Amino acid sequence: MNKVLILLSLLLLSLSLTAQELSVDSGRFQKGDDTSWSAFDYDDNTWQVVSFDKAWEDMGLDRVNGIGWYRLHVTIPSSLRKGTVAAIMLDMGAIDDSDQTWINGHLAGQTGTFPEDPGGYSSEWGKRRYYIVDPRWVHWDRENVIAVRVYNYGDPGGFYRGTVKIVKPSLKYFADLSLVAETGGYKAVLATSEQTSGTLNMTVTDILTGTLETFKTQKVNLAAWKDKQISYSLPPQKRLKVTYSDPRFEEVLEAEVCAPYILTPPAPATPRYNGPLVFGVRPGSPIVFRLAFSGDKPMKYNVEGLPEGVVLDSKKGVLSGSCAEAGDFPLVFTATNDKGSAKTSFTLKVGPLIGLTPPMGWNSWNCWGLSVSQEKVMASAMALINRGLADYGYSYMNIDDAWEADERDADGRIEANEKFPDMKALGDWLHSNGLKFGIYSSPGDHTCGGYLGSLGHEQQDAEVWNSWGVDYLKYDWCGYSKVFDASPDKSEAALIRPYLYMQQYLREQPRDIFYSLCQYGRGKVWEWGAFIDANSWRTSNDINDTWESLYTTGFERQVGLQPYAGPGHWNDPDMLIVGKVGWSSSLRDSRLTPDEQYTHISLWSLLAVNMLIGCDLSQVDDFTFNLLCNNEVNAVNQDILGHQAHQDVVEDGMQIWSRDLYDGSYAVGIFNLNEESVPVLLDGVLDKIGLKAGTVRDLWRQKDIATDAEYVIPPHGVLYVKVLSSSPSRL
Ligand code: GLA
Repeated sequence: MNKVLILLSLLLLSLSLTAQELSVDSGRFQKGDDTSWSAFDYDDNTWQVVSFDKAWEDMGLDRVNGIGWYRLHVTIPSSLRKGTVAAIMLDMGAIDDSDQTWINGHLAGQTGTFPEDPGGYSSEWGKRRYYIVDPRWVHWDRENVIAVRVYNYGDPGGFYRGTVKIVKPSLKYFADLSLVAETGGYKAVLATSEQTSGTLNMTVTDILTGTLETFKTQKVNLAAWKDKQISYSLPPQKRLKVTYSDPRFEEVLEAEVCAPYILTPPAPATPRYNGPLVFGVRPGSPIVFRLAFSGDKPMKYNVEGLPEGVVLDSKKGVLSGSCAEAGDFPLVFTATNDKGSAKTSFTLKVGPLIGLTPPMGWNSWNCWGLSVSQEKVMASAMALINRGLADYGYSYMNIDDAWEADERDADGRIEANEKFPDMKALGDWLHSNGLKFGIYSSPGDHTCGGYLGSLGHEQQDAEVWNSWGVDYLKYDWCGYSKVFDASPDKSEAALIRPYLYMQQYLREQPRDIFYSLCQYGRGKVWEWGAFIDANSWRTSNDINDTWESLYTTGFERQVGLQPYAGPGHWNDPDMLIVGKVGWSSSLRDSRLTPDEQYTHISLWSLLAVNMLIGCDLSQVDDFTFNLLCNNEVNAVNQDILGHQAHQDVVEDGMQIWSRDLYDGSYAVGIFNLNEESVPVLLDGVLDKIGLKAGTVRDLWRQKDIATDAEYVIPPHGVLYVKVLSSSPSRL
């Protein structure tokens, strides 16, 4: 076959037409940049034919860090035309990093920004592109050219997720239906950029019984760029669903919400200790520890039994200083306010082990993504204190990716970028409030977000972080793939090497730095993490705020991992996805239902894993506070035995996970993974896992409950209990 024939068959193969959409999975590519390449009749014959399932680097192209263009030639059938609303839509998938897209020389849209744009370059590599195209721009039943100008920074580059789709327009491309929380209920908002006439339906269903309680229907007639708002009241544990249909389109818009309900009783006004019962520090290392007492402020703190060198700030309740001598120091904490006082016993363990209980705190990634700044970190740190989350043991403030400057200084030292004007001052401020300071890097030459990594500068970076007062390092594989892929050595040792390498420099620092590995569970990291002195390791890919992600990360990927967790080393199924999240500068409420959120926090508590809040702490609502600040739920997570729960039963969509606690009791989570609520007989369930119940306490409601009773567990919800068993030899 000659070249032209091969090319023709490739192009034909790349088009597959269904009634509703057309898919294109290859086109032509050229490095460089020229505005005339957007024109329909530009001759691109000499350009390379490429497929869209591989990034630039993987197609034998030179590494392209900069601009490249794709041109797609495609015949668009008039069967894809629908009314005058919009002709077609280009579904471009994800493009690494930013793009501008033309059809027949008309600009259809842009996602992300280019270096020459005001404000400079910003990546939107993970975002799906939908561009609606004016019908007059399309050459119906003839050849069209879609030209895509792409800017890439770091790898991978360009299209790599398969196909570009050309689809019929549908309602969702110009109308949007959402439910927005307001006092006492929710407001349905239907917004449209085109004229629409249709029907809005609303139902309220009881979550526990599944009974339909209310149905309302309403005709809507909206002009372009108008919206319709209707308020509904919604009691707890009811599901509100609204739908909108316009007869011109097959598809129906839907929005659904479940009213949150608070189970955690409010903390008393008198002091109450909610923090861990032990803290580990190496001899001579600076101590950063905040006494976690809830209750009315101001409070006065006292600590008995402090070893020499350790000092208490009695107004803030902050321990600092250091202890040269190894050993266990029994302390008694007292907090007093004008309502009363409380005491608790505590052990300061000065020795080789740190991270004796799972780290509790905050990380910037799930909320701010790459838009994190010092100002945002400070706002969350202040809220941690003022909103009272620090009174429940949350103490790490961890900056994830995007703090790094573009270049190292003349001596090769890493610097922070302009969003972080003073890292040392930030660290000092956190420490003065008893909070700990976390940072992020990669063993590769760049991070997942395309920022500088530590490769070749490991010792220097550890020293710089020490000078800023860093207490936690998340070390993320990402850019290291390049080194690993280029080497023939694919052994376990090759996976361990970059982490072991950084470990030696971290441990040489005169302060304790919690070492958190992030390589998504490669090479069964849990089997060797503790041996290289890591304090925790991610067990899976990134979590997001959907039930599917929570299920895979929290349930599936944790089965059988309990032998590897214990004081000083923990499995890490990733950060929490409650509250306002968004992985960008725009935040939204977690998409998990309230019951899914109870399941999430109960499971993380049972699993003895890192409790790093992923939301903007300056916007923590009462429901989220109730999830994060239940002292009995958190006490299980922080239990000093450090025994991770194991999966005992999987049956009819139900799962039971349990763990033993240092006081001889058991924490048991009965999870309903079904789509409907399920009634359970408590003593029957406990019997299944060999527990003869004495007292059973509902941990969310913080009250003792009867064992010979039936409890209805909502869909994707949980009954989370602590059991004093009369047959303690079970485990
Ligand atoms: C990876 C990690 C995330 C986050 C980002 C930052 O995806 O798994 O947790 O740190 O990188 O770029």
